[in-house]
Amino acid sequence: MSLLLFATVALSLGAFASPIARRGEEQKAQTVLAQSALAEILKQGAPILGYDEGCSRSNATCDWMANYSDDTKIVHMSIPGTHDAATWNYTQATQDEFIRYTGEIAAAEYYQCQEHSLFQMLNGGIRAFDLRVAYNPGNDTIGFHHSEAMLSPTATVEDVFFGFYSWLDKHPTEALLISVNHESSTGTPDDAKLYEHLYDLFNSSPATEYWVQTNGTLGTLGEARGKMTLLQRFSYDLLPAYDTNRIGIYLDADQWTDNGVNITLVYNEAEDQVAYIEDYYDIGVETGAGAAENILWKYNATTAHIQDAIDNHPDQLYISFASSEHDVDSPAETPRIMALGNGTDVPGVNQKLLPWLQERNGSRFGIIMLDFFDSVPGLVEAILSV
Ligand SMILES: *[C@@H]1O[C@H](CO)[C@@H](O)[C@H](O)[C@H]1NC(C)=O
Ligand SMILES: *[C@@H]1O[C@H](CO)[C@@H](O)[C@H](O)[C@H]1NC(C)=O
Ligand SMILES: *[C@@H]1O[C@H](CO)[C@@H](O)[C@H](O)[C@H]1NC(C)=O
Ligand SMILES: *[C@@H]1O[C@H](CO)[C@@H](O)[C@H](O)[C@H]1NC(C)=O
Ligand SMILES: *[C@@H]1O[C@H](CO)[C@@H](O)[C@H](O)[C@H]1NC(C)=O
Ligand SMILES: *[C@@H]1O[C@H](CO)[C@@H](O)[C@H](O)[C@H]1NC(C)=O
Ligand SMILES: *[C@@H]1O[C@H](CO)[C@@H](O)[C@H](O)[C@H]1NC(C)=O
Ligand SMILES: *[C@@H]1O[C@H](CO)[C@@H](O)[C@H](O)[C@H]1NC(C)=O
Ligand SMILES: *[C@@H]1O[C@H](CO)[C@@H](O)[C@H](O)[C@H]1NC(C)=O
Repeated sequence: MSLLLFATVALSLGAFASPIARRGEEQKAQTVLAQSALAEILKQGAPILGYDEGCSRSNATCDWMANYSDDTKIVHMSIPGTHDAATWNYTQATQDEFIRYTGEIAAAEYYQCQEHSLFQMLNGGIRAFDLRVAYNPGNDTIGFHHSEAMLSPTATVEDVFFGFYSWLDKHPTEALLISVNHESSTGTPDDAKLYEHLYDLFNSSPATEYWVQTNGTLGTLGEARGKMTLLQRFSYDLLPAYDTNRIGIYLDADQWTDNGVNITLVYNEAEDQVAYIEDYYDIGVETGAGAAENILWKYNATTAHIQDAIDNHPDQLYISFASSEHDVDSPAETPRIMALGNGTDVPGVNQKLLPWLQERNGSRFGIIMLDFFDSVPGLVEAILSV
């Protein structure tokens, strides 16, 4: 039965019923409408969201935050995250399909950093997401990108945020940290209209219900459960000065040194709140040094930073990116080779991190941003010390 027909039948049945029964029918019709509208949005968002197949593994990762008390500070936690999360379906087949929008660009393997969907990440325990946005073709909607690579011409930020909201409704103990930055080098306009769009999105319903409204500080898990916290990596500089309502924390690009092994980023000067960030993504060893050497450099930078999170500044935010590439090397180290190695002889950063983390079980690791987050079994669990 079509939705319209169903609604008409439901409402006309209601017309002959008592007021209370009629209200029941109206509520039911509204629920049906809301459910089908959500299903439609999730379908539009599927190229980026994937599908929520529920928790097939043990619930250790699905609802892991349930085990922490409300007064746990976010900065005291170990949180698995995904770098360039939206790239999970950017295979060569996907690129080939979108080349009519982007023109010829480097092969898909240089852009793809994940292989399982955002919903699989959520169910797999990921709670921090690195999302890069820019206009979709036509410049009216905002979608997801990784450098020149356009990840879907149709899925929008709204669709994908609805996916997160719907997942949070089912997992109210969980809290998500969502990093958003504007991706340059997409060839699309970087104009005031884009930031106005984002500003309006964050400042209207339902976002205002689902995003932590605090400005400039990360609070406790209790305050963040069932919600998303914005890690704002774009600036509102192009907007008029009166558009000033801020949420989440602002990670200023001017302080985020490119390719830094140890960035000190002050996000709240008045309250002395600092983010220590390792974002050494482009490995600078000499050409032809080989996968093992490149991987060793990245592993060293990542473990040195996580060790710092264990030893120092216990009340500050740590973000360590385990993701990297050395694309101009010959042969190239793609994100996949850096994370997972180049075959059986050279293990990747993820394989090497697993025992390193397990040896430090129970420590505060901060946020660890992974490529190919679930390709080495047990890695997320090792970050969570379960
Ligand atoms: C993933 O990409 C393939 C190949 O381009 C496409 O057929 C498939 O529909 C995509 N998956 C989703 C969920 O959009
Ligand atoms: C949560 O606590 C329960 C009971 O102590 C334990 O069985 C489970 O493994 C824990 N899960 C996580 C993710 O820590
Ligand atoms: C995991 O599932 C078990 C059994 O369904 C339940 O008792 C427990 O509370 C769940 N743990 C979490 C952290 O949700
Ligand atoms: C908007 O996007 C189209 C591609 O869809 C592009 O050709 C056009 O130049 C863009 N408009 C502006 C103002 O940049
Ligand atoms: C909170 O937002 C205002 C803009 O409304 C900004 O001026 C201020 O610096 C922010 N506070 C912090 C701690 O980031
Ligand atoms: C992996 O990289 C090493 C150098 O680090 C090289 O000796 C080996 O041949 C590479 N293996 C493959 C399968 O590419
Ligand atoms: C990596 O760290 C180890 C242990 O500190 C050190 O022996 C090695 O020289 C470092 N290698 C690189 C490439 O930085
Ligand atoms: C990073 O810099 C901070 C501040 O200078 C320092 O406390 C910390 O030990 C450094 N971390 C590493 C891994 O060098
Ligand atoms: C260390 O790991 C084991 C599982 O191997 C787990 O049961 C235990 O709770 C962990 N310890 C801490 C302090 O997290």
